Amino acid sequence: MFEKHARRGAVAAAEPLAAAVGAKILDAGGNAIDAAVAVGFALAVTYPAAGNLGGGGFLVGSIGRGSGRTDEIALDFREMAPAAATADMYVRAAEAGIKKASLVGHLASGVPGSVSGLLTAQEKWGSMPRKKVIEPALALARDGFPMTERTQRMLTGAKQGMLRFEATEEVFYPGGATVPAGENFVQLDLARTLETIIEQGIPGFYEGEVADHIVVEMKRGGGIISARDLLAYRSVERKPIRFTAGKGHAISMPPPSSGGICLAQMYRMLSHFPLEATDAKTPKFYHLLAEVMRRSFADRNQYLGDPDFVDCKMEMLEKLDRLDERASSIEQEKASESADFLDDIATPEEGEQTTHYSVMDKQGNGVAVTTTLNGSFGSKVLVPGAGFLLNNEMDDFTVHPGKPNMFGLIQSSANAVAPGKRPLSSMSPTVLFDEDEDVSAVLGTPGGPTIITNVFQVLIGLQRLGFSPEISVATSKVHHQCLPDLLYLERAIPVETEETLRTFGHRTGRRVSIGDFQLLCQTKERGTVGVSDSRGGGDVSYTN
Ligand code: DON
Repeated sequence: MFEKHARRGAVAAAEPLAAAVGAKILDAGGNAIDAAVAVGFALAVTYPAAGNLGGGGFLVGSIGRGSGRTDEIALDFREMAPAAATADMYVRAAEAGIKKASLVGHLASGVPGSVSGLLTAQEKWGSMPRKKVIEPALALARDGFPMTERTQRMLTGAKQGMLRFEATEEVFYPGGATVPAGENFVQLDLARTLETIIEQGIPGFYEGEVADHIVVEMKRGGGIISARDLLAYRSVERKPIRFTAGKGHAISMPPPSSGGICLAQMYRMLSHFPLEATDAKTPKFYHLLAEVMRRSFADRNQYLGDPDFVDCKMEMLEKLDRLDERASSIEQEKASESADFLDDIATPEEGEQTTHYSVMDKQGNGVAVTTTLNGSFGSKVLVPGAGFLLNNEMDDFTVHPGKPNMFGLIQSSANAVAPGKRPLSSMSPTVLFDEDEDVSAVLGTPGGPTIITNVFQVLIGLQRLGFSPEISVATSKVHHQCLPDLLYLERAIPVETEETLRTFGHRTGRRVSIGDFQLLCQTKERGTVGVSDSRGGGDVSYTN
């Protein structure tokens, strides 16, 4: 065994100032959790399309290294349906002529989980005081930061929907237009909310003035989140999904995310097919990817939901014999029919935004966080006086049985709306370990259901094709989610490849761009290497 390269602290995030905040926290002696929490709050200020206080997310990590005890953790801070939510609320809203109620406006929001999640992580596993990790975000909100081109462009794109809500207009379109890129963007109400959270911790968001602002706005706009819903919100520690990957293993998010189980399934099914670097980008390779994706998404869409409400049939879904049998039904050069894998179910323009960030510290801890408002800028409702946007996560439930949601997903009654339930997610924060059980990579991306298939392809790039971290992220991605029965190809994949895939029987579609990957790797040859996807506008910051 040769000596491993020294580790550096690093943060990869979708917005450079937030990545820098994380690296500074590491430099000041914080651990990967301290940095992750600081990045989470910073993104809520600098990347309002997806960074959030009014949304939710998942954190997966390996922590405790350097302190003698190592834990593999998964924290669920997904939004919860309010107590007054019902299975048919969106069908009824549609009948009453309220269009897209699960997507835009007050009924679209679940009870936010991010503040509970970040502060729970901080209290359980962080080493710094709360103030220290939220202060950088507070400074960015109070003193402002140069409006980024990306946010300015996204705000311009979302303007029509956003202008339906006065408070949203006041913050993001002061005087009728967005703050131009490069000009200082200040968010004073948001700063005050962050101050309250610094002072009071979790109750500073779920009780008192901030909670009052949310409830008043809900009543005003016909929403159903109540003071009691906010008080009742809890993040939940869950057992990560763990699966063999390469010479080591990987951990990812369990239900209410579908990410972990699908990754484990797809990894196993693909392991039956020999692969080497020269197979990359061939029709044969994309065909195999599509077939394992199809089979796994069939399970996802039929069986998964909030494990606190439904039996997700995990034992069956994780059973290796069943996966091996499914893999054996994959034919070379011939597409299967999605219908063959579905018995129980009742395309999409993808909203761009969720966001993922990856953190590694010098001690060898790794933390992966994916967080979201669901669509870009969520429900578009900004809480007046509190300065943050609310999510439209309710659309991740099976809102109209038998019909596709925003991501084209057709899901089952396992994911029906119910009071206190969490909608099924595809977010897949993932940590990879080498044969010595040391953290070797931290992975994740936004992209709705393409999150799962993108994380899978980066894993396969790193482990089965021998790609560098850079190529694993940069290489063109494909996506299949069973229904619609379409193989999506990223823009750069040649037409000839698409034509061959069609001769195999695949129906194909195109995606301009898939994901905004944030990858950190600990490599034997190059030490700590970070990649922030060139498809997005993020960056990697390293410690000194
Ligand atoms: O939890 C989920 O699966 C979705 N709400 C994620 C949304 C998303 O990634 C949007 N960005 N592309």
